[in-house]
Amino acid sequence: MCGIFGYVGKVDVGQTLVTGIRRLEYRGYDSWGVAIGGDDGLTLFRRVGRVSQVDEPFKLAAAKSWGGIAHTRWATHGEPAERNAHPHMDGAARFAIVHNGIIENHAVLRDRLRAQGCVFQGETDSEVIVHLIASLYDGRDPRAAFVGALRLLRGAYAVAMICADAPGTIFIARDSSPIVIGRADGCAVVASDPCAIVPFTRDGIYLADGEVCALREDGYRIWNLKDEPVEGVVQKLAYDLESVERGTFKHFMLKEIYEQPRTIRDAMRGRLARGSGTTRVDGLGLTEADIRRIRSIRILGCGTSWHAGLVGRYLIEEMARIPTVVEYAAEFRYAARVLEPDTLVIALSQSGETADTLGALREAKRLGATVVGLCNVVGSGIARECGRGLYLRSGPEIGVASTKAFTSQLVVLALLALHFGRVRGMSLADGVRFLDALEALPDQAEQILGNTDAIAEMGRLVAGHRNALYVGRLYEYPLALEGALKLKEISYIHAEGLPAAELKHGPIALVDKDMPVVTLAAQTGAFEKMKSNIEEIRARGGRILAVCREGSEDLRSMAERVICIPPTLDPFVPILGALPLQLMAYYAAVERGCDVDRPRNLAKSVTVE
Ligand code: F6R
Repeated sequence: MCGIFGYVGKVDVGQTLVTGIRRLEYRGYDSWGVAIGGDDGLTLFRRVGRVSQVDEPFKLAAAKSWGGIAHTRWATHGEPAERNAHPHMDGAARFAIVHNGIIENHAVLRDRLRAQGCVFQGETDSEVIVHLIASLYDGRDPRAAFVGALRLLRGAYAVAMICADAPGTIFIARDSSPIVIGRADGCAVVASDPCAIVPFTRDGIYLADGEVCALREDGYRIWNLKDEPVEGVVQKLAYDLESVERGTFKHFMLKEIYEQPRTIRDAMRGRLARGSGTTRVDGLGLTEADIRRIRSIRILGCGTSWHAGLVGRYLIEEMARIPTVVEYAAEFRYAARVLEPDTLVIALSQSGETADTLGALREAKRLGATVVGLCNVVGSGIARECGRGLYLRSGPEIGVASTKAFTSQLVVLALLALHFGRVRGMSLADGVRFLDALEALPDQAEQILGNTDAIAEMGRLVAGHRNALYVGRLYEYPLALEGALKLKEISYIHAEGLPAAELKHGPIALVDKDMPVVTLAAQTGAFEKMKSNIEEIRARGGRILAVCREGSEDLRSMAERVICIPPTLDPFVPILGALPLQLMAYYAAVERGCDVDRPRNLAKSVTVE
């Protein structure tokens, strides 16, 4: 959840480090810091808050330097404070490290180091790494001390280290947390996320778990933990600069919402087999016989990905008739679950790094399940752990609130469900009908985004309230959950998503003239029932904000505000319906003056449990 950036080269080291770390700020932003290596040893700067401009002493140190490492933090151990910000240094200021991940045995190591006379500045688990390295240093071989320390760590890490005795080198290691290096003319860079590398080069080398690298301006060497040399594999980084810049949009979230006509199309590109009324999902690595053998499906994810999983359940049960259960990854992981034979486990994750999902996936494997991953980030931990699956192809999602990845997850789940359905008895005609509807989605999304005045107005209306309810049935129930999550995470308005029929079993007690109720009524199958629910809410004085399909004009007389989306088949309503709900949350947050791309207390990629 934190960002690492490092640079070796001659171009304004201070500014380069600050610019690099600012690109990663979306991953964590309660404090930041930089360690600079120069003729006079190492110099440390740490600050609480967002990455800001550098001050004079910082510029002076940077002017005489060969490079450095930088970090932006989202606190897990220890409050956001300068003493807890990275980089961390040992007492002699010989080593500086930055770390992403969690060191599980930090308490034991801390006690041991304290007993040896080590003085800790803060409370982070990461600080033990630098003291451990210093304690193992023989005065000659910094890499040996680095590797020695790594061997004693339990947990997950991406670490970058500089040493006053090794000018011009950044030492890097990885276990379960992503890290990528790159070289360009006259410089070398390392980052926890390729978006900070692409301004320098498109050729990146991802370190694998257990690998250690010495990176210099003129080259790099990689070893495994047994100290055997390893050949780094150069990969084209799939990021283009445009996708990591905001362009003319005021926020990344808004830009990403507007990208959805393209990302929905990209999620399907090359995966539709119209002639045979099915989809191509070869990445799953499942033969037709394998698919016929599946007895049940378990979908695992967190947050927005869990909501996508709930839609996936409806899709799979309707199209493929396979019993499906959706679970919060962290619950599955620790709940002593029982999986029946021939269960397929689907791990859903935008980042592919979510610790809860990764842990649940490992548990599912231990229980003998076949696992596949639906991830956005290529080469991420979950993608690697599964070894097979489908990528979402939505490009980097920088805004903390997930938007385009959600709709891509729904598309990819629909492709999977359709393929499984066709293998298990769905007719060709039905297959083609679903494909036609899928193909129409990008243009329909474009249409929604072409006229957003009513949505913005609805967002501003909600902004004036302290609470909101979202209700929907069937496919629009998970959508209600997702709409409520979007609103609460970026505007801090308390919101609940509910199955519309559940309202009368309790929550309707909350409804009065101050309660906006976003009623989702765009499915044909559930429309009449939703009208009855709307009447119930009206009778208690609630303010109805309806999302319905074009043509359901009779709702206008029942609702205070109505937004219409183009007609599609019920299973795909959440894909189109997500757009107005995302925008509504966005406009509510802007109206309330919230920091849309960096909501309080949140981080983009949750790599702790
Ligand atoms: C909400 C949001 C989070 C994530 C959740 C899982 O907008 O972004 O709820 O969906 O932390 O993250 P991934 O999908 O990366 O596993």
